[in-house]
Amino acid sequence: MISKLFFFYFLFIYVCRPLLDSVLPSLPPTVSDLDVPPLLREHFILSGYRPLGLPWRCCVLSLLQIHNQTLTTWSLLLAALALLLRFTGFAFLRGLSVDPTSLPLVLYFISAIADLSCSAAANVLHCRSEEMHYFLFFLHSVSAAVYQYGCALALSLYSVDAIWTQSMLGQVYLPLTAILSWLSCALCCYTKLTLRSKFAIHRRICRLFPMGVAFLVIMGPFVRRLTIYRWSNGPALMLHFFQVVLFLLSTFFFCFPVPECFAPGHYDLAGNSHHVYHALRSLCTLVQQEALFHDFLWRRPALVRQMGEQHLLLTCISFFCPMVCCSMTALAMRSRARAELEKEQR
Ligand SMILES: *[C@@H]1O[C@H](CO)[C@@H](O)[C@H](O)[C@H]1NC(C)=O
Repeated sequence: MISKLFFFYFLFIYVCRPLLDSVLPSLPPTVSDLDVPPLLREHFILSGYRPLGLPWRCCVLSLLQIHNQTLTTWSLLLAALALLLRFTGFAFLRGLSVDPTSLPLVLYFISAIADLSCSAAANVLHCRSEEMHYFLFFLHSVSAAVYQYGCALALSLYSVDAIWTQSMLGQVYLPLTAILSWLSCALCCYTKLTLRSKFAIHRRICRLFPMGVAFLVIMGPFVRRLTIYRWSNGPALMLHFFQVVLFLLSTFFFCFPVPECFAPGHYDLAGNSHHVYHALRSLCTLVQQEALFHDFLWRRPALVRQMGEQHLLLTCISFFCPMVCCSMTALAMRSRARAELEKEQR
């Protein structure tokens, strides 16, 4: 055992380190907040910034460097990997076939992976240029909205019973969440452009408001389950509940720069509110997928009989509506950002 450890230690020291060292020196060291444009600055984070204008290669390689976003990026990538492995495992074990009943689950999975990867990409690559910073932020807003709708779709099909589907809320639920997802994407992009870093807190609240409303509506089916079935209804409800708690906790860290506001500069590389927020959100996604697996097995047998195959397929196709609307909004915002950057340079 000990000899094995020594073997790996020497392998690392004599083979990997020189290799890493030959690649990493090409990376510029991290800089302080005053060395990056205000657009990139975060309150109470004083160091650990990568300089703006890094070549693509350096952006990607900075995954191996310690800077203020290393932890965030890795937690997102690991969560995506865990989600993928868990989904593949479930698909094999339960013999997930390609049929209309499993389509919403697959769409949910795709939207969750897209959200995590776009967020990771935005974290790694945004220091390429200011324009890229905007573009990746908008892309991430689109993926977040698509994920919101993916959740709503899966919840409204798997996590409720037929009575809810026929109720008033059940009828307007999906169109309403589609509009709210689009609104939160549009507001995120818009506030990013108009309220620059000076108003970081305002911006966060402006973003949080539509996201919060969307979340409350999206959790509608869960509230009904909670009032009707209580806790005896298997582990799914517990998982949904846990997911809500994680979401609320993460929202707290999204809004308030805790703990770094108490000790500016102390949490630059690890432990600041961004790190905690992303770690909690990633965990939230994993828990939600788990809950949906349970719900899927519970609802699957009756789904086609109650809804009809055609209706189910049409519902799944609606997945693409918010996606198209949000992408178009983001593209429009991108040209606006470009125009503004050009105006500033002149
Ligand atoms: C980390 O640094 C980047 C610039 O490299 C900056 O855009 C970002 O806002 C910083 N994030 C945190 C959490 O400090």
